[in-house]
Parts: sequence; C-alpha cells; structure tokens
Amino acid sequence: MEILVTGGAGYIGCHTCLELLQAGYDLVVVDNLSNSKQASLARVERLTGKSLTFYPIDLLDKAALSSVFARHTITAVIHFAGLKSVNESVAVPLLYYQNNLTGTINLCQVMQQHNVKNLVFSSSATVYGEPASLPITEDFPRSAVNPYGRTKLIIEDILMDLHHADAAWNIILLRYFNPVGAHTSGQIGEDPNGIPNNLMPFITQVAVGRLPELAVFGNDYHTPDGTAVRDYIHVVDLAQGHLAALAKLAQQPGAAIYNLGTGRGYSVLEVIHAFEQATGQKIPYRQAPRRPGDVASVYADASKAFQEMGWRAQKGISEMCRDAWNWQSHNPNGY
Ligand code: NAD
Ligand code: UFG
Repeated sequence: MEILVTGGAGYIGCHTCLELLQAGYDLVVVDNLSNSKQASLARVERLTGKSLTFYPIDLLDKAALSSVFARHTITAVIHFAGLKSVNESVAVPLLYYQNNLTGTINLCQVMQQHNVKNLVFSSSATVYGEPASLPITEDFPRSAVNPYGRTKLIIEDILMDLHHADAAWNIILLRYFNPVGAHTSGQIGEDPNGIPNNLMPFITQVAVGRLPELAVFGNDYHTPDGTAVRDYIHVVDLAQGHLAALAKLAQQPGAAIYNLGTGRGYSVLEVIHAFEQATGQKIPYRQAPRRPGDVASVYADASKAFQEMGWRAQKGISEMCRDAWNWQSHNPNGY
C-alpha cells in the first residue's frame, strides 16, 4: 500500500512527502528533476528518519512509468509534476502543453492500466482569472489568461471527464492559492532557478543579499494601499491539505474540488512589513509599473475544505515569513 507522488522532489512535493512519511505512509516518488534537486528528498529522509523510493523518471516516458506501477502496490497518486512558470509558458507554450497535458494523460492511462483510480491533482487559483467578487468559492467561473493557467484548466476538465466516463475514479482537484514559507527545520524550502518571479523568494533573496531591491509591481490597484492582494498559505499547511485529501479519497468521494488558502488576503506592502517584523531584516523596495496579467485581489473562501475534509490553514503571515527566512538564511544558494 504505497502512495505515488509525482513531482515529489519539488517545492510543494517535498514538503508533502515529509508530512506523509511522518504520518506513516509508504512513498514512491517520480520526478525528472527538471526543476528540482534530489537533495530535497535526501533531506526529507534525514528529517523524518524514514526512507522513500525515488525514480528519476519523466512522465512523458510512459513505459518507465508503467514499470513503477508494476513494481509497487500503489493505492493513490498525488500529482504535482508539471512546469509552473507563467512567463516561460507564454514564451514556449508547446513545451507547457506537452509536459503538463501529455504528462497527465500518460499518468492517467498508466493508472487505468494498473487499476489505480485515486488521484489528487495540483490545480491553482489561477483558474479563477480575474474574480468578479471576493472571497472566491469553488463554483466561481473559470478562465485562463496564459498557457500555464490553460494547462490547469484543461487538466481539470480532462480529470472531470475521466470521472464522468468511469465513476470508479476518485479525483480531488486542489486549487492552491499562494504557497510560501518552508518547513520549520529550515532544511527544505523553495529554490527557484535564476531570478525569482514570485514575491516571497524575491524578498528572501533581497534579504540575504543576492538581489539589491524588490520592485513592487503596481500601486494603483483598487486595494486599501494600492498594491495587489493575495492569499498566502504556508507550504506546510498546504502539504497537510494533501493528507486530508488522501483521507477523503478513502471515502470514495467521486470528484471533488477544494480551495486551499487561508481566506485572508495581504497586500504586497503588508507582506514586506510582515517580513521585516518577523525577521528584523530591512527590505529595500521601489515602486514599479503593474506586471502584465496581474489581477488586483485574490483570496479564497476555504470553508468547503474545512466542512468536507476537516482541513484548515493554521499558520499566519509571520510564521510564513519567519520560516521562509530561516530556509533562505541557512541555505543562501538553495540546495
Ligand atoms: P516545482 O517546480 O518545485 O515542482 C514540480 C516538480 O515536477 C519538479 O520537481 C519538476 O522537476 C517535476 N516535473 C516537471 N515536469 C515533470 C515531468 N514531465 N516528469 C516528471 N517530473 C516532472 O513546483 P511546485 O511549486 O512544487 O508546484 C507543484 C505543483 O503545484 C505544480 O503542478 C504547480 O503547477 C502547482 N501549483 C504551484 C503553485 C506555486 O505557486 N508554487 C501554485 C499553484 C499550483
Ligand atoms: N510581486 C511584486 N514584485 C515581485 C514579485 C511579485 O510586486 O518581484 C507582486 C505581484 O505583482 C503580485 C504579488 O506580488 O501582486 C504576488 O505575486 P507572485 O508572483 O508571488 O504570485 P501570483 O499571485 O502572481 O501567482 C502565483 C503563482 C502562479 C499561480 C498563481 C495563482 O506564481 O503560478 O499564484 O493565483 F497561478
């Protein structure tokens, strides 16, 4: 009875592997290491004192994937593997469609061959596009504003079609809001390639001296201080959401969708100030024009996840900042 984690060496994946091992699950991880290092999993094993089975496999290699299912008794799959850079997806859309869509279709075909029909998928709040009102509930209309977001939208539809064709499939779509922070040990965390696109890793790299200052994109949004508002969620809370989803899968829920967020939005300036307060580090910043494609405010109504899975985020913005800094300051150059 093992859980297969695709993309388990990545940022959210390795935090989830840690929580799963601690909860007593046996794990098989496949990852092609295109955006991660195997060191993350070695650290997870060291932190938990438990081991997992790792295969450096690409989801596009269906035969290799099938051999993993033949070798193990897999009961459910948590599917993180995918490319996630919005900018890159605009530049090279075919790569994103091939990797994210074909990778997912291969995975589902192999699961079907081996009669494994329990799946948790990493979707994103990006599928809500520019929400008409706030907070966002799961039944809001969806739209895509870039190829990355479109892969999430299409995969959601593919998985729903699969469930409609064969009700034996139990599928949970988790729509993450903005994952930040790191495990409290400071041993695993976010390790982006090159200059970070996302706010929190940019802030921590400014704090550690790798980058000179933060550009705050836009100060004329319709928000209390003019900067954009997001629902930041601690990655350990997010990881625990996957354990709640696995427990839900065991109840055979059919197809279900949950927002994973805190329900509370913070502006860019609020995050900077929270980081400075939590860490004592000064973050030099300058105002810059809006970033194309950004929306003013996004935050979740996360009550469905609590009502149906008993999960709710526990950690606040100061813990997110403290733990992100603990990771970055102990690992200034990542893994
Ligand atoms: P990540 O890049 O750190 O992890 C993804 C992992 O998948 C990487 O280790 C990468 O090497 C692997 N991978 C990619 N393509 C693969 C393939 N074809 N075969 C095998 N492995 C492959 O990203 P993350 O932040 O941990 O995100 C995990 C998932 O959550 C992704 O699907 C992402 O789109 C989704 N998500 C992330 C965020 C976020 O802000 N981090 C928000 C919403 C949704
Ligand atoms: N921001 C800055 N300066 C920076 C980086 C970001 O001001 O250097 C601002 C952005 O303009 C935005 C906020 O900080 O207002 C958060 O930006 P992120 O890039 O951290 O996060 P996004 O909300 O833009 O996007 C994230 C993921 C996407 C995912 C989306 C879902 O990166 O993959 O959340 O809501 F689709």
